[in-house]
Amino acid sequence: MNKTKIGIIGCGNISGIYFQNLTQTFVNTEVYACADIVTERAKEAADKYGIHKVLTTEELLQDPAVEIVVNLTIPKVHFDVCKAALLAGKHVYVEKPLSLTLEQGRELLQLAKERNRMVGCAPDTFLGGGLQTCRKLIDDGFIGTPIGGTAFLVNHGHEGWHPDPEFYYQAGGGPMFDMGPYYLTALVSLLGEADTVCGMTKVSFPERTITSTKKFGQVIKVEIPTHVAGTIQFKNGALVNMITSFDVWGSNLPRIEIYGTLGTLLVPDPNTFGGPVFLKMAHGTEFKEIPLTHIYQENSRGIGVADMAYCVQNGGVNRASGELANHVLELMHAFHISSDSQTYYKLASTCSQPTPLPLHLVKGYVK
Ligand SMILES: NC(=O)c1ccc[n+]([C@@H]2O[C@H](COP(=O)([O-])OP(=O)(O)OC[C@H]3O[C@@H](n4cnc5c(N)ncnc54)[C@H](O)[C@@H]3O)[C@@H](O)[C@H]2O)c1
Repeated sequence: MNKTKIGIIGCGNISGIYFQNLTQTFVNTEVYACADIVTERAKEAADKYGIHKVLTTEELLQDPAVEIVVNLTIPKVHFDVCKAALLAGKHVYVEKPLSLTLEQGRELLQLAKERNRMVGCAPDTFLGGGLQTCRKLIDDGFIGTPIGGTAFLVNHGHEGWHPDPEFYYQAGGGPMFDMGPYYLTALVSLLGEADTVCGMTKVSFPERTITSTKKFGQVIKVEIPTHVAGTIQFKNGALVNMITSFDVWGSNLPRIEIYGTLGTLLVPDPNTFGGPVFLKMAHGTEFKEIPLTHIYQENSRGIGVADMAYCVQNGGVNRASGELANHVLELMHAFHISSDSQTYYKLASTCSQPTPLPLHLVKGYVK
């Protein structure tokens, strides 16, 4: 099996699962090099996962052997690192979000098109067994025509546990930009592209007091909305109500539900790869748990990279695509723009529904 050579930039918290899966789970990827502005982190990862080359970011981008750059840096440098990778002639896959601004997202897609390179972006949880099972049930008509749904991510923020929680309350943070990508990517994967958003936002707590140990007692000034509510109208006519909030102390709301003319689907947590999936048919008396139809039910982060590697070698369109991530980026902004302007926001970006994974895959393969 030909292995596509990957260069990972950013060896922080999330990188471990990428190193693990791209070196051990997927048969078509090889982590050829890694880099981090804190060289020690790249060295540590290289030792742990047997990576031969620890390079600077610049060296990694200029190394002709690297085919895909996997950008696992922090959100505010996603754009710069992705742009540099595309300019160096690499395909690039980036952790969420694609970029901070709509202009940056569009620029990356345009640059990739000009250079004939692929852009890919997390989350790739929609390729997991849980969400792929939901997709199959919808595609096969089990809930009939989708009518609408709900998507809820509500909690009280992260200053109670995170050692450096300030960024959650600054531009690029907030509940929508932090967790929205999982919910919105799942919804677009299940229902297709969105059309219009009506959003309302608020800041319920203008200041937050850190109660985690390192900065206990320090006060954070909240600079972005922390309670974001609204409705998305999808091109297929489905209306999904969504709340993302850091202002709520407790809730029994489900993560995602999809309602159809023939039944209701309870969708698992879109921040995971597994189930459970429940279905209630129009004439059924109760929800029944549905056995998952697809593999990749455990933490398979990096499957989007393996899928991109398949396309590098064989052609085709990568599923966790830049187009999808850019649509999701616009959706996240749409809630805020709609709220600020007190008007509906019609999306400008388009996005094809990503192709489902086939049934009967062997672990390690994406085709
Ligand atoms: N940690 C998680 O559980 C988690 C989960 C899902 C997604 N993510 C996403 O993954 C990304 C990384 O998150 P993280 O938690 O691993 O952050 P982190 O801060 O732990 O790691 C980021 C790493 O990138 C390096 N870095 C920063 N700027 C760089 C640059 N210009 N060039 C090279 N290296 C640079 C940092 O030194 C650091 O080692 C973020 O986009 C985040 O949204 C994180």
